[in-house]
Amino acid sequence: MDLKIRFTIFFSLLSFLLLSIFSGFVYVQVKEKMLTTAVQALSEHLEHEAMHLPERGRAAAHAPHKADIFLRVYRGDKLIDNSFPPDFHAAHHRGMQQQLTTTFENQDYRLEGFLDLTDTDHYLAELKKVLVLASVLCALAIIPLGYILTRVLLAPFRALATAAGGLTAQQLSYRFSEPKTLDEFGSLKASFNNLLGRLEKSFLQVERFATQASHELRTPLAVLRSQIEVTSRRKRTVEEHEAVLKKLKMQTERLEGITQRLLTLSDIERTQVQGTEAPLILRPAIDEICQAVKLSHPEKAPEIEIAPIPETLQWRVSPTYFSMLVTNLLDNAIKHSRDKVRISVGKIPNALTLKIEDDGPGIPESEQSHIFEPFYRIPSTDPLAPKGHGLGLSIVKACADACSGKISVESSSLGGAAFSISFPV
Ligand SMILES: Nc1ncnc2c1ncn2[C@@H]1O[C@H](COP(=O)(O)OP(=O)(O)OP(=O)(O)O)[C@@H](O)[C@H]1O
Ligand SMILES: [Mg+2]
Repeated sequence: MDLKIRFTIFFSLLSFLLLSIFSGFVYVQVKEKMLTTAVQALSEHLEHEAMHLPERGRAAAHAPHKADIFLRVYRGDKLIDNSFPPDFHAAHHRGMQQQLTTTFENQDYRLEGFLDLTDTDHYLAELKKVLVLASVLCALAIIPLGYILTRVLLAPFRALATAAGGLTAQQLSYRFSEPKTLDEFGSLKASFNNLLGRLEKSFLQVERFATQASHELRTPLAVLRSQIEVTSRRKRTVEEHEAVLKKLKMQTERLEGITQRLLTLSDIERTQVQGTEAPLILRPAIDEICQAVKLSHPEKAPEIEIAPIPETLQWRVSPTYFSMLVTNLLDNAIKHSRDKVRISVGKIPNALTLKIEDDGPGIPESEQSHIFEPFYRIPSTDPLAPKGHGLGLSIVKACADACSGKISVESSSLGGAAFSISFPV
């Protein structure tokens, strides 16, 4: 059901309820006041009559008669005055009765009064009718008023929803006008703008990632195709075939490497870290990773210094993520180093820091914000510059994010780059 209609129904029901309570309260108050006044009037009348007993019998001096009060005066058992209607029967009249006994000149008197409440009842019934009618009319009047009011109040929200509903993926740079006040509508607008900002950023990232990924995959595929085409143009010797096959193998390995790393990256981004890993003893884990990475760089043999790490220092971390972090950082450090790489682990009360440094060319400050983007490689004119897919640091960043770690890069005292990751413990 439309929100306007829901609001209108709610407000008219609420106002009807409140008006009914108010009317009920007014009715009860008026009724009580009238009955109290009536009781008081009857007893005052009886008292007045009792005080004027000496004059009773002299018709001219009789107390003023009230139209709605009937009176019987008895001296002993003898009825000496009676203003009740001849056909009066208490059961047929709505009213109240009171008696008063007194003694005057050694004579007992009894005064019986009856107050007729027919007019009061009539008045109260009229009042009830008016109050019920007023409540119903007010509630009915609130229906169109409430509808118009909610329409006016919801108009900006409706405009916002229409504008947001019309946005396509190509219009994510659209922003709603800056809110003038930070009321509910203003903060909704601000949240929408924030959301659009985040969506635009991640959309651009995905777009860039897809373009870069297809570009990276296209190059080895194009090389494969041209190699096959050129080779198949004429008959080749066995040696020529072997040489081509070697090139094809290299390109397929490159393709395999890229797809494998892309899969790793998407796996890390999809998987939630449970935080229930068994503690990992750092020193042997780092030693093991060092051995494996060294083996993948037979052409380079820098000195790898592992700063003293307490033998029992441990950390609750996924061994897979830890291995990916250290492997990729160490792989870069060895690739870019001249002679030396240093690994150190520091522990402060609430954090554990892993640092990997080298004595290579380092990373210029202007490049430091880009190197964690997928496929980004620092441009180099040196044909001997280390090769790679540009995905290692994206994997490191994704692993660090998954473990709530913070990664930073600076210049190392060794002269090259120093990557530090600190994790809360
Ligand atoms: N220790 C380092 N010293 C100097 N430059 C570095 C270092 N580590 C990374 N870089 C620069 O950052 C870029 C991105 O590194 P990243 O690890 O993401 O990719 P890669 O090493 O080129 O390829 P991959 O790791 O996917 O095989 C590298 O191409 C290199 O230019
Ligand atoms: Mg790398």
